[in-house]
Amino acid sequence: MARVARNGADVVVTKSVGLEPRKGYPGPNITVSHSGLLNAVGLANPGIDSFLQELRILQRHNIPFVISVFGRTEKEISQVARIAVEAEPSALELNLSCPHAEISQIAHSPKLTGDFVSAVKDTVSIPVFAKLTPNASDIVAVGLAAEEAGADAIVAINTVQGMKIDIKQKAPVLANKVGGLSGPAIFPVAVRCIYDLYHVVSIPIIGVGGVSTWEDAVEMHLAGASAIQIGTATLRGLDVFADIREGVEEYLVREGFSKTSEIVGLAGGN
Ligand SMILES: Cc1cc2nc3c(=O)[nH]c(=O)nc-3n(C[C@H](O)[C@H](O)[C@H](O)COP(=O)(O)O)c2cc1C
Repeated sequence: MARVARNGADVVVTKSVGLEPRKGYPGPNITVSHSGLLNAVGLANPGIDSFLQELRILQRHNIPFVISVFGRTEKEISQVARIAVEAEPSALELNLSCPHAEISQIAHSPKLTGDFVSAVKDTVSIPVFAKLTPNASDIVAVGLAAEEAGADAIVAINTVQGMKIDIKQKAPVLANKVGGLSGPAIFPVAVRCIYDLYHVVSIPIIGVGGVSTWEDAVEMHLAGASAIQIGTATLRGLDVFADIREGVEEYLVREGFSKTSEIVGLAGGN
């Protein structure tokens, strides 16, 4: 995480952490498919107490970070949140939407999403982001519920549920069978979700999903993203942050803008 920050990211978002240590799923838990990465890591994490020790490294380097937290119930996610704030993160991101774990259904439901966001908002006083799923039938209704429950920002999108089958074995490649697709394959899905959300919610949207070039970043800002997260593209190398930053800055100058916020949502209304 410290290396990511040193390579040009303004903020680092942690992997999701829960109350107890969790092994995740057995392998194979990651494979490639159609310009994307399919993973079913299964929310492997050391539990919030051990995780706080690791975060001390970021604190020592003065790197701003957001902790991604999850829980199976409102009570559990609030407990994780209460402990997580001890590390003094800039915000908490609620993973309500991992498509290959038991929490996958939360962000399918506006009601559950609102309940989870409210529970955490009642527990902590730092900003709380709700991370949504493109697998929901109506991501806009879920986004509105998150906003009404007090979310300070929406993060869109988590991975797209998918599967790969080994044609020789005649069986799914991933041990968990179902995984979450990320990378360039899901970029247009993310842009559509952000565009739709932008026109109904008033809180900022943090765009994520398949961004790997500065052109992608510009497109996502134009759709309505105020900030952008990059995951899968980091596998190509951590230069991606500086490359994208430079490309966006040059685009802004060429197009006569002075800051990124001037292009957010410029792609037009519904
Ligand atoms: C290996 C892997 C692990 C991930 N783990 C998490 C996680 O713990 N919590 C979460 O909210 N999203 C997780 N994601 C989803 C990413 O944060 C992101 O939403 C998604 O990959 C789309 O962005 P990208 O195409 O830039 O990777 C994971 C993605 C990958 C590929």
